[in-house]
Amino acid sequence: MGVAPVPEDLDVTRVPVHVACVMDGNGRWANQRHLARTAGHAAGEEALLDVVNGALAIGVRWLTMYAFSTENWRRPPDEVRYLMGFNESLLMRRRDELNDKGVRIRFAGRRDWRVPRRVLRRMDESIELTEHNTTMTLTMAFNYGGRAEIVDAVKALVAEGVRADKVDERAIRRHLYFPDMPDPDLMIRTSGEYRISNFLLWEMAYSELVFSNVLWPDVRRSDLYEAVLEFQRRNRRYGGITK
Ligand code: IPE
Ligand code: IPE
Ligand code: MG
Repeated sequence: MGVAPVPEDLDVTRVPVHVACVMDGNGRWANQRHLARTAGHAAGEEALLDVVNGALAIGVRWLTMYAFSTENWRRPPDEVRYLMGFNESLLMRRRDELNDKGVRIRFAGRRDWRVPRRVLRRMDESIELTEHNTTMTLTMAFNYGGRAEIVDAVKALVAEGVRADKVDERAIRRHLYFPDMPDPDLMIRTSGEYRISNFLLWEMAYSELVFSNVLWPDVRRSDLYEAVLEFQRRNRRYGGITK
């Protein structure tokens, strides 16, 4: 199977600046094959890289991928341990090729005691290796929760001693994990689940949401292109009316 070409009707001048993605369905993909859930996570790596390459091909500048949520600690310890190690080894395997392609790697989420130090070290190395890249910013949401992010922002505001009458949307945004990150224009969730699951709550206030039934390990860049085509058919009104 070759690499899917960019569809002719995809308007390359109207590509979403920021695409966010909930990579869901790994466990079900594995179940269907009578494999362990972890085999589904492993198979998701190919999907992730193909979507990154597709995003690069159409000029997406910001790509944010939900890799581990603050709620995912509720999973069995074996699966959590696997996911920690898997994300670490994925960085080791892939950071050089991402770096060569001009991808800046970042991580959004809490660096709490539950994230093994080894994993944090790989994250820091990847950030440092790629920090000057400008083609695309790939943010991995890892130990990420939208509510946790808002709580952390409010904490930082309070710690700064900001007066109540100075608290506005701009002040909160300045204290999000990445104040320079534009809000996602498009959010894609796979596996036929129709929910946000605590992803980018503040930032997705006006994102276009696209849901697909494909299980994450089966996702390829063509699914990204489909979602972008759907995005281009939408009419974003932001509360106003269409002229
Ligand atoms: C998404 O796939 C990966 C993570 C949440 C880490 P799941 O593991 O949630 O797969 P399903 O939803 O059980 O099929
Ligand atoms: C959301 O998927 C988190 C990630 C993809 C990392 P989940 O599979 O954890 O979400 P729920 O539990 O179905 O809402
Ligand atoms: Mg899931």
